[in-house]
Amino acid sequence: MTTAFDPIDLSGTQLANRIAMAPMTRSRAGAGRVPTGLTAEYYAQRASAGLIITEGIQPSPVGQGYPDTPGLHSDEQTAAWRRVTDAVHAEGGRIFAQIMHSGRIGHPDLLADQPGGLRPVAPSAVAARGKVFTHEGPKDYVTPHELTDAEVRETIADFVAAARNAVAAGFDGVELHGANGYLIHQFLAPNTNLRTDAWGGSVEGRVRFAAEVVKAVAAEIGPERTGLRISPGNPFNDIDEPAPEETYTALVAAIEPLGLAYLHVLEGGPDSRALTLELRKRFSGTLVLNPATEGPTSAEELALIENGTADIVAFGALFLANPDLPARLRANGPYNTPDTATFYGGDHRGYTDYPALAG
Ligand SMILES: Cc1cc2nc3c(=O)[nH]c(=O)nc-3n(C[C@H](O)[C@H](O)[C@H](O)COP(=O)(O)O)c2cc1C
Repeated sequence: MTTAFDPIDLSGTQLANRIAMAPMTRSRAGAGRVPTGLTAEYYAQRASAGLIITEGIQPSPVGQGYPDTPGLHSDEQTAAWRRVTDAVHAEGGRIFAQIMHSGRIGHPDLLADQPGGLRPVAPSAVAARGKVFTHEGPKDYVTPHELTDAEVRETIADFVAAARNAVAAGFDGVELHGANGYLIHQFLAPNTNLRTDAWGGSVEGRVRFAAEVVKAVAAEIGPERTGLRISPGNPFNDIDEPAPEETYTALVAAIEPLGLAYLHVLEGGPDSRALTLELRKRFSGTLVLNPATEGPTSAEELALIENGTADIVAFGALFLANPDLPARLRANGPYNTPDTATFYGGDHRGYTDYPALAG
């Protein structure tokens, strides 16, 4: 029987186990939106994961949706990420960069220090309901600028350039963030994509942007270094997807022939397992699963590997708080408790000071 502690070959990248660190924004980038020495320490501490997936990293200045998130669009950022990947590799770990364009989830205030008077962009000019975190506290979302056809193509080129930078920075691959209501998801969902051109108007149209980003990135850095994260039906960030089966089976059909490193499914809720199983049937590559659970993903979910539901299980909050999570899962605990007050922003506290098990 396969267990979580067995190695796995991820399209040529050898992973020591099937326990992944889920992508988690930590809002601790330094000036120039660069990862710091502390970032390198944080990820190196977690290098016993079979695979680390980084926090969301913006592929362009306008793709930033939260304060102090890092980018992969400047030489300075690429050089700074090299220090992170070197630190992880020195500990024997593997690390993919999550490329996250936040689309309409953002605020002009977060971009005010960038040239050009930037405003969040989206498939359609539909503001998200709710509030966004800015340096001055929560603010209403603004109506985003609707991307023109030419701008959609430029945005795809930004993803490609960021993926190229990721490889130059020593990442083992990239994960494209198509989940949680950010730009790629905004193209997929009918309430955020009201377009009538080739990028919307039908299931095929709504799926096109995700598929084209994946194809373009895979062509640039190799499909074996390209993964995609999706969260079918997940309402986070004001997404409404009444018929996710249609959308996501069409998306998987479009990307299946490419031979990607993996598909990463973040389940939206207790009803999402049937669709997960359906997508697994239709996707012949590696399936990473961040399962729907009541609290944070826990040791019990490792059974999903043993029963064949997934190839790799991704842990979010528990990995954040337990740098040596695979060892703790093997020992059946104990676990440090995640401190939600230090999830976003701040210093080393709640970042690099969670202890490992003694001895
Ligand atoms: C602090 C924090 C930041 C997160 N940031 C991201 C992110 O940048 N990209 C992403 O795809 N998901 C992000 N997530 C979602 C996690 O990857 C994961 O799906 C979620 O925490 C549920 O998994 P868990 O129950 O194991 O924590 C974040 C979650 C947390 C707790």
